[in-house]
This record gives sequence, C-alpha cells and structure tokens, in this order.
Amino acid sequence: MNKTAIVTGASRGIGAAIARRLAKEGYHVAINCVSRELADTEGAEVAAQCRALGADARCYVWNVADFEACGEAVKQIKADLGSIDVLVNNAGITRDGLLARMGEEAFDAVIAVNLKGVFNMCRHVSGVMMRQRSGRVINISSVSGLYGNPGQANYAAAKAGIVGLTLTMAKELGPRGITANAIAPGFVNTAMTEVLPENVKEEMLKAVPLGRMAQPEEIAGVAAFLASEDAAYVNGQVIAVDGGMMI
Ligand code: NAI
Repeated sequence: MNKTAIVTGASRGIGAAIARRLAKEGYHVAINCVSRELADTEGAEVAAQCRALGADARCYVWNVADFEACGEAVKQIKADLGSIDVLVNNAGITRDGLLARMGEEAFDAVIAVNLKGVFNMCRHVSGVMMRQRSGRVINISSVSGLYGNPGQANYAAAKAGIVGLTLTMAKELGPRGITANAIAPGFVNTAMTEVLPENVKEEMLKAVPLGRMAQPEEIAGVAAFLASEDAAYVNGQVIAVDGGMMI
C-alpha cells in the first residue's frame, strides 16, 4: 500500500515542490490550500502534477491557524487515504517590519500561522501516528529562527518556536516510532522572496558561499530524505539548507 503525506501550504513554492517530490517517491498526497480559490487554481495544478507522477493527490481547504479546522481536515484525510505517514508543516507567511514599528496584528498573524499552525497540525496528527506506531513529522523552520534577521522579529520568533516544538516532539513521540525533524532553509526562490527589493536580494546573496538562491526542489529533496527509510534514525534534528549562508 502507498504511504500517505499531508503537505500544508502546498499550492505553490516549497510546499508544491515537496508535494510533487513525495508523489514521485510513491506517496499519496493531501495538498492543503488556505482557500477554495487556491484549491481550484494553483492547488489543482499541483494535484494534477502529482497525479501525473502516479499519486492519488487531492486538495483540501483549511486554514492551519484554525485548530478545529485542522482537526476536521485530519479526520477527513485519514478517512480518504487510510493512514497519515508523513506530515510536512510548510505553510507560512511573512509580515516583515522593524520591531520598533511592528504592529500587534503583524506579530499575532505570523505566530498564528507559522507557529500555532504547526502545533495545530501536530496535535491532531500525533494521535493518528501514535495509533499507527509510526510517522514522520517534518517542520519547515528558517535560518531566521536560528540566527535572527532584522525586520523579522515575528517570523524569527515563530520559526525558533518551531525548533522547540520539533525537539520536544522528537522526545515525546520517539518512543512511539515517530520522528520529528525540521528543515531551516536559507534563501529560496519563491513568491515569498520575489517581493524583496533587488538591493536586499543582492546583499543576502553576498552572504551565500554558493552565490545563488536555492530552488524549491532543493528543499523538497531534503524533505524526501527525512521521509525516507534512510532517515529512520534521524530524529530531533534541524537541517539547514542554506548554501552555507550561516557558516
Ligand atoms: P510561499 O508564500 O510561496 O508559500 C506559502 C504557502 O503557504 C502558500 O501556498 C500559502 O497559500 C500557504 N499559506 C499561507 N497561509 C496559510 C494558512 N493560514 N493555512 C494554510 N496555508 C497557508 O512561500 P515559500 O517560500 O514556499 O515558503 C514555504 C515555507 O518555507 C514557509 O514556512 C516559509 O516560512 C519557509 N521558508 C521560506 C524561505 C524562502 O526563502 N522562500 C526561507 C526559509 C523558510
């Protein structure tokens, strides 16, 4: 039987690349989209790409910041796909701004999606994985969460929170055959970074020994490794995929 994976925020960018890669590796994929409109457009396209790779791939609409909606979605996906072997918490937003000027709303919104969203999903999926006595949780953090980044107090706090959550899950759920790891991407070529001014991009690239941004597929490859049998003994790790940016 095919294994199954949930990928949050999979309508585009890194999430879409992870969904496609897991489909290629033989997983059935539940593609989370935050709105019906996205599910009918970008999400539908990702699902079609996954199906072309032989996977059963469907879009599911919910907001990861909504605890109840996460619970309902997990129940539905389990009923549709039979098991939940891999959970990739990828959904994320930015509301950048200097701390001295950051509005409360910008802080709360980023924490709600980027950190609480991960808790919400882990909370609901952990019961399913514990009953299976197996599972892989892969959380997308960021180098911002490990080293800080001016203009990203909210985002860095959320991404650092993901690290604490991941390490705790690794300890709590390891005895049940479940691993939890995080990926901390550096600077990835997606819509999230497209909006940055050219001079900011150039400055950031100067700090990357490889001299270029990552492609989403390069993050997806590490996620596929963490989901694979080869990573069975990798637990509670934060793997930076940043082209050497932080060395
Ligand atoms: P993106 O903006 O292209 O994709 C984010 C996805 O999350 C979109 O599909 C969006 O619809 C979805 N999303 C947003 N709010 C949601 C919600 N409440 N519920 C469900 N889905 C929601 O961004 P990208 O670059 O693909 O980012 C993916 C992840 O990687 C994020 O967690 C981001 O913080 C992280 N990351 C990205 C880096 C980059 O340089 N692009 C660097 C480090 C981490």
